Amino acid sequence: MTGSNVNKSDWRAEAAAATTKRTEEHYEAHKFLRSAKGHRDSKLFSNISGKLTTLAKAAGLSLAEHSADVDGSMGTPGFEHPPTTGVIYVMDRATAKGWKYGDKSWGNFGQGAPEVGHIPNAPERPMTITMKEDEFEYAPVAGIKTLREAVAKLYNHRYRQDKESKYTWENVCIVPGGRAGLTRMAASIGDSNVGFFLPEYTAYEALLTIFKKLVPIPTPLDKDSGYHITPRRLYREIHDRGLGVVVVSNPSNPTGQLIEGDELKEWVDISRTTKTTLVLDEFYSSYIYTDPENPGKTVSSAAYVDDVNVDPIVILDGMTKNFRLPGWRVCWIIGPKEYISSMASSGSFLEGGANHPLQQAAIPMLEPERAHQDAISLQAHFFQKRKYVLDRLETLNMPVHIPPKATFYIWLDLSHLPEPYCNGLTFFEACLDEKMICVPGIFFDINPGKRRDLTASPYQGFVRLSFGPPIDELEKGLDGLERLLKRIGYISA
Ligand SMILES: Cc1ncc(COP(=O)(O)O)c(C=O)c1O
Repeated sequence: MTGSNVNKSDWRAEAAAATTKRTEEHYEAHKFLRSAKGHRDSKLFSNISGKLTTLAKAAGLSLAEHSADVDGSMGTPGFEHPPTTGVIYVMDRATAKGWKYGDKSWGNFGQGAPEVGHIPNAPERPMTITMKEDEFEYAPVAGIKTLREAVAKLYNHRYRQDKESKYTWENVCIVPGGRAGLTRMAASIGDSNVGFFLPEYTAYEALLTIFKKLVPIPTPLDKDSGYHITPRRLYREIHDRGLGVVVVSNPSNPTGQLIEGDELKEWVDISRTTKTTLVLDEFYSSYIYTDPENPGKTVSSAAYVDDVNVDPIVILDGMTKNFRLPGWRVCWIIGPKEYISSMASSGSFLEGGANHPLQQAAIPMLEPERAHQDAISLQAHFFQKRKYVLDRLETLNMPVHIPPKATFYIWLDLSHLPEPYCNGLTFFEACLDEKMICVPGIFFDINPGKRRDLTASPYQGFVRLSFGPPIDELEKGLDGLERLLKRIGYISA
């Protein structure tokens, strides 16, 4: 057999296997997702279900309520419903199955936020704030100067003590939350190939879809590589695909993997040498578990930048995760000052900037000593929760082979579970029946323009578990998982 014949039969076999897999479309879980508002298939599904409903009515039958309410259009000419995926879809399904906000009998491993209450040894957080009248005014679109200075000071203290080139307030733009930061960035990317790695944070999908100037170029990672992006791989992607920008969450949501030390330095060197802008979403930079000898260690590419106004390194971080204040909506972008000035311009037409009083309130929390104490307490607390969940999964015969080095997420491989539970979407629905919420892996298969059908996703056999919630809630969720695994006969009752 010649080499070309081998390849030919390879792809035919693979395509045939993929078609067989599509029988999964018949699974209940997939039907729900396909019919969700804004999903690519929802109109098709609603046409079919509309016809079925008519037929059923004629026959004097009534179909399930859900299938009658699946029209993806908003009924408003010219508007389209954005896709209902990610955490919104997860919480919609959980609500349909009885979950209510604050219900203590559920374990919400779908939560993409850290617990916000007091944790041992954490500095006290303000429970009231006093406002001055001038804080009723708009804040500048790029944020108040004193907060921009405080962010620059923290980064210089943490990462740039031995460097001549230091960040100043002009290298910092304050934004109303991480997603607003990402939107500002996406809005200012010109005609460019934008590379990203899969699996990746769910919100990137819509972002990379709606801004039409940029061309999104995905690179899938797999478990054999431990979801690790070596500098060589990064270089090859940039070089071979002509990337102008690379966007990546480091630490990674959802895999919890981390590029740090010499490798991260090489990443920055590659960006500088190839003149490729590297957008590093460092939202979990304090949730680091790789260096227990060094409590409170944080990781940022800022440590490897030579000239802060030249190297094309753009960092996104904020109060959301690392200071456990998701509701404050105070975050920042750090980069060369020219770039930061363009961020201010895009903010002026997008959202107008972060709220004024909470920018003020954030300043003392960024004092280096206090921020360090925050990171120490957070790491110790989340390390314990990580250990608890990993140990318990092991006893449930669900060992995690690629445990998180950072973040509060576990990327759980379901491949050893029996059919149909080895499929993330079906597993997710089955977990809901046991009052446990997780996020199907396919939601992290950032697929701008829905070029691939959901059954063709390489991440179908995974879910993301978050150990963001308090430990008693994690316990409840894992009890639910245990019930499920017993019920399906995967572990003995
Ligand atoms: C990697 C990453 N970046 C950005 C964000 C957005 O954060 P925010 O809630 O502040 O918009 C999140 C939130 O889950 C995230 O996981």
